[in-house]
Amino acid sequence: MVDLKSQYHKIKAEIDNAVLDVLESSAFINGKQVQEFADALSAYLGIKHVVPCANGTDALQIAMMALGLQPGDEVITPSFTYVATTEVVALLKLTPVFVEVDKQTFCIDANALRNAITPRTKAIVPVHLYGQPANMEAIMQIAEEFDLYVIEDNAQAIGAEYTFSNGVTKKTGTIGTIGTTSFFPSKNLGCYGDGGAIFTDNDELAAKMRMIANHGQSKRYYHDMVGCNSRLDTLQAAILNIKLRELDEYIQARRKAADFYDKAFANHPKIEIPYREKKSLHVFHQYTLILHNADRDGLNQHLTSRNIPSMIYYPVPGHKQKMFHTYNSSSYQLPVTDWLTERVISLPMHTELDDEQLKYIVDSVLDYVH
Ligand SMILES: Cc1ncc(COP(=O)(O)O)c(C=O)c1O
Repeated sequence: MVDLKSQYHKIKAEIDNAVLDVLESSAFINGKQVQEFADALSAYLGIKHVVPCANGTDALQIAMMALGLQPGDEVITPSFTYVATTEVVALLKLTPVFVEVDKQTFCIDANALRNAITPRTKAIVPVHLYGQPANMEAIMQIAEEFDLYVIEDNAQAIGAEYTFSNGVTKKTGTIGTIGTTSFFPSKNLGCYGDGGAIFTDNDELAAKMRMIANHGQSKRYYHDMVGCNSRLDTLQAAILNIKLRELDEYIQARRKAADFYDKAFANHPKIEIPYREKKSLHVFHQYTLILHNADRDGLNQHLTSRNIPSMIYYPVPGHKQKMFHTYNSSSYQLPVTDWLTERVISLPMHTELDDEQLKYIVDSVLDYVH
């Protein structure tokens, strides 16, 4: 689905030097590159604080811990997302509440969200799925009306933008109370291992999240609260420092590949191309089609037989995962989520796709669907 090797080769000299610098300094934990990266990312995003951590799942967990959510508090998440979004809710003994997504954007449906609110609801976790921003205007209005926290799961959408009706444009992950992201290698801004970060404009929350990520430590060996150990390695920060400079170009490359696919599949009766919300800049972490009256799993196998990877993100939605059955999740009726789960298929999407590869993929899809 991605070609990390070709991408690395284009920036090899810089990356190799940065890695060698870290090896020479031997400051493997909390070396200066970690703060340099946090500063560069906060400038890029236009947010006051970036707290680096070990991965995108920890980022969500630390965010929820910092908000002081208590066992039994309800946290609303879409069911149509990667499991990590909801898993941390359960891990912290909070109560996950699954809601529908919008059929076009694949992101949380604002009406379903409103209908799911109860007196126990404390937070909403919109996910900017596949790189398309959720409807943040509606979500922020609801959050304000019901006094709820918003944690944006931005793992798939770093660099994406959302424009409000008053004309203000913001990067996703900087709109809610807290934003989180993952630097998993295949992400739009990926490192060469695991990594993550948390963003906020709130000084108090930022200080608390830094403490939580560092064993609840206020100063060395003085632990004020229960935390965890979640750090971004210096090596990963050094790599991310270089890759962050490329991020806008990476996004352009992904959008160009998406344009190629869009053009080839537009108006096909059996293929629905990804919707592009006019208020948003979609950064195409995934290029995901909806198939109508076509054998989706058959296409998946056909592409495999032609050496083209394709993926179903995700074959089982949250409310149907065994891990959530104790929350009575199997009783949920989420027809849009179920409908999408049976029809979506993601094609290769990365920064190194050339026209020849794209044409081969497109021809293979069209051959099968015809
Ligand atoms: C939407 C979403 N949330 C959270 C995560 C978790 O990130 P990580 O794998 O870095 O823990 C991912 C990554 O796969 C993701 O796609």
